[in-house]
Amino acid sequence: MAPVQAQALPTGPESGIAAEKVRDGIELEVNGEHYRHTGDPQMPLLWYLRDVLRLTGTKYGDEHGGNGADLVLLDGKASPAIDTPMAKLAGKAVVTVEGLAAADGSLHPLQQAFIDEDAIGCGYCTPGWLIAGVDLLRRKPHPDDGDIDQLPNLCRCGCQSRVRRAIKRAAAGKAGQP
Ligand code: FES
Repeated sequence: MAPVQAQALPTGPESGIAAEKVRDGIELEVNGEHYRHTGDPQMPLLWYLRDVLRLTGTKYGDEHGGNGADLVLLDGKASPAIDTPMAKLAGKAVVTVEGLAAADGSLHPLQQAFIDEDAIGCGYCTPGWLIAGVDLLRRKPHPDDGDIDQLPNLCRCGCQSRVRRAIKRAAAGKAGQP
């Protein structure tokens, strides 16, 4: 049997394969996915999340993150996304409210506790409360009202007392129970 001749493949522009340079950028992880930001390194993380990744759960509160609406977990700690430029995020892991639920869609116990206690009004502040609450429960598994009142979050709909109950319900392991 005659040997099979290897076909010469086209090279150069005829190959149809374009060489792509790897652009420099800031590599980070958001909700377990890997991204490279190649834009302005001074862009606040909040705009990157909302305008580039279309993760709109994290909200604008004010220019200094004073009311907690823009909190995300940055390497596990609650941090204001408006005050964090992309330049500071190389190698960091960000978790937004969209990343709190498990991969199978089951809610984080604190999300469930917010539903149980009806701790949601218009919802604008809720993502920030959830992130702050997750961080608080990590630092202090059984927080009291004073601990919760020290969080930077504000609710213009007057949900603070229900938020307190929700955080304490999650701490007690009673999310999803009557
Ligand atoms: S639920 Fe409306 S601002 Fe808190």
